[in-house]
Amino acid sequence: MTLFEAIHARQSVRAYQDKPVSAEQLNAILAAANQSPSAGNVQAYEIVLLRDRGLIGALAGHTFNQAFIAQAPVVLVFCADPARSGAKYGAAGEQLFCVQDATIATAYAQLAATSLGLATCWVGAFEEQRVASFLGLRAGLRPVAILPIGWSAETPPRLPRRDLGDLVREFPPVTAAASGSHTADGGSGSVAGG
Ligand SMILES: Cc1cc2nc3c(=O)[nH]c(=O)nc-3n(C[C@H](O)[C@H](O)[C@H](O)COP(=O)(O)O)c2cc1C
Repeated sequence: MTLFEAIHARQSVRAYQDKPVSAEQLNAILAAANQSPSAGNVQAYEIVLLRDRGLIGALAGHTFNQAFIAQAPVVLVFCADPARSGAKYGAAGEQLFCVQDATIATAYAQLAATSLGLATCWVGAFEEQRVASFLGLRAGLRPVAILPIGWSAETPPRLPRRDLGDLVREFPPVTAAASGSHTADGGSGSVAGG
C-alpha cells in the first residue's frame, strides 16, 4: 500500500474483531511513530502501550463511555512532555511543540496501522487527569491522544471533506487576471479550484 493509498484508506473504525495484533505489526507501528518529525528532534512525548484486556477496559472507563475502545487488542496513549520541549524552547515548547510532537507521532502510527490492514480511531475525548493518574504518568506528562488498534469489525461510511476551495486560501489572493501566473499548482490556475 502506498502512502496515498493508506491516507485514503484510513477511516475511524469503532468496532474491532477479537483477534490479536502481532508483535511485528506493533513494532512496525511504533517504529513509524518514532520516525515522525519533532521540534528540534527532541521527541517531546511518550507512548504508553496497553495490551492487557482488563487495563484497556479500565482505560476506556475514562473516555466518556467510549466503550468500543475496550474491544481493541492494543491501545497506544500518546503523551506530550512539556518539560522536555520546554527545556529547549521555553514556553513555545511547553505549550505547543510537545503537543505537536505527540500528535504527529499519533498520525504516523495511525497511517502505519492502516498500511498494515489494521483499523484505528483517534480518541481525543477523555478525562485527562484520570487517564494520567490511571497510567501513572510522570508529573507534567499530558495524554493527548488515545489510539485503539485492531482488526476492523465494521464498514463505516466514508465521511465527506470540505472542498479545497473552502479549505485553502492562497495568499496573496489569485485574481482572474493573474490566474495562470503565480499559482500554487505551477501556473495552470487555482490549486483549490475555488
Ligand atoms: C483530535 C481528534 C479527536 C478525536 N476524538 C475522537 C473521539 O474521542 N472519539 C471518536 O470516536 N472519534 C474521535 N475522533 C475521530 C473523528 O471523529 C474522525 O476522524 C472524523 O469524524 C473523520 O472521520 P474519519 O476518521 O473516518 O475520516 C477524533 C479525531 C481527532 C483528529
